[in-house]
Amino acid sequence: MKESTRGIPRSLEQDGRDDEIAAGLSDPGAVLERILDAERRGALYPYYRRLRELAPIHRSEVEGLPPGTWFLTRAEDVNAVARSAGAVNDPRTAQVWDYEGDGSGAFYRMMSRAMLFLDKSDHDRVRRLVYKAFTPASVAPLGDLTARVAGELLDAVGDRDEIDFVRDFTYPLPLRAIMRLLGIPRDAEGTIERYAWDFARAGDPMSATSEIIERGNRAAEGLDAFFGEVFDLRERAPADDLVTALVHAQADGNRLGRDETIATLVLLLQAGHETTSDLLGNALIGLFQHPQALSRLAKNPDLVVPATAELLRYDTSVQISMRLARAPIELGKTQIPAGSLIALCYGAANRDPALHAEPDRLDLDRNPSHLSFSAGAYYCLGNALARTEIQAALGVLFRRAPGIRPASEGFVERWTSRLRGPLELPVSLG
Ligand code: HEM
Repeated sequence: MKESTRGIPRSLEQDGRDDEIAAGLSDPGAVLERILDAERRGALYPYYRRLRELAPIHRSEVEGLPPGTWFLTRAEDVNAVARSAGAVNDPRTAQVWDYEGDGSGAFYRMMSRAMLFLDKSDHDRVRRLVYKAFTPASVAPLGDLTARVAGELLDAVGDRDEIDFVRDFTYPLPLRAIMRLLGIPRDAEGTIERYAWDFARAGDPMSATSEIIERGNRAAEGLDAFFGEVFDLRERAPADDLVTALVHAQADGNRLGRDETIATLVLLLQAGHETTSDLLGNALIGLFQHPQALSRLAKNPDLVVPATAELLRYDTSVQISMRLARAPIELGKTQIPAGSLIALCYGAANRDPALHAEPDRLDLDRNPSHLSFSAGAYYCLGNALARTEIQAALGVLFRRAPGIRPASEGFVERWTSRLRGPLELPVSLG
């Protein structure tokens, strides 16, 4: 991540300049370079639109990616590859975090144990077991837990009218909600929050300094020890929480091993944290850009429930995921050879005009299909949790602060060329 520490704001207005620049480009490679440039500020979607027009199935030559990585920007193609048994998450993906070069780093070892990066058969086995633990009963408390955390965070603001929506609300919210769902004791929350921050910072190889890596390794060791103890406790003394459900989940005579459970708990914390906080930030920015939609939600916070799919479609947090083609993949007349890397551009697919009329407009009545949670074998396991958290968090926000509005001309953006969301978003609670 090239964090925008230089503080260059992205305008809260739709950026007409990028529309013009994108329309003037005729080389798909040049368009892609702008999309992937983590330091560029400005609009992203005009470039996806241009790439889709010029080369919807684009074989790229981009610095930092293996030559011949394919970029897909049409909903139909992204959906087809996400659902294809021939396209898998490549376990070698995790090697970008082998900072020590010999596989010894605690951060790397934790990441390579995450189900997302296991080979196909292990992935499917672990996923089936984790899915078993996500019973309606084990996740039902999340809505109330999130609403309570949202209320506590707004209480903590006190008399201040201006807050940083990210630091004061969206960043702590999903992590605390998940920790409470997992049954993590309150007095451990601060430590886990610090670990989660350090762990996430080490996840971006582009910005990982030796200090960030060292902190990431310590965080991984800390999380390993903490969740190891939680595992042992819940194995001996089952409780009514999601950790117990994970520890005891069984499928086909299988159970998760201790290390697998720990890696899954760390993945749940990570996969469910910045994804959700970024989405909440993007949703509020989208609403600021569409004042009528904002005022409808402010007047009727319950509308957030039917509007969730549109908020997820409009500006998602996980913009791009990679797949490895195990076998040749046919997309219309194009054949993607076995061994190729394929970038699924979910953000672009969500704005494909073949799927949605006026895709650049946030339309709360749309209830659209979208690819923000991917599809197929890696379909987001936390999708129901994410929806619940978005609904509970925004419901409380609009009930408590119906007059919320931007407190500056712009905001500081974070764009890792995979994950997108605000880093700082000053708002007035009205
Ligand atoms: C708005 C918030 C979220 C978004 C946009 C999102 C998006 C995604 C996407 C796109 C994937 C597929 C990754 C790929 O294509 O390789 C994924 C996977 C995953 N997500 Fe989410 N996610 C969100 C929230 C959550 C939450 C709250 C949790 C759990 C607490 C969660 C847990 C997971 C897990 C465990 C996987 C891995 C699934 C597998 O490997 O089979 N996510 N998510």
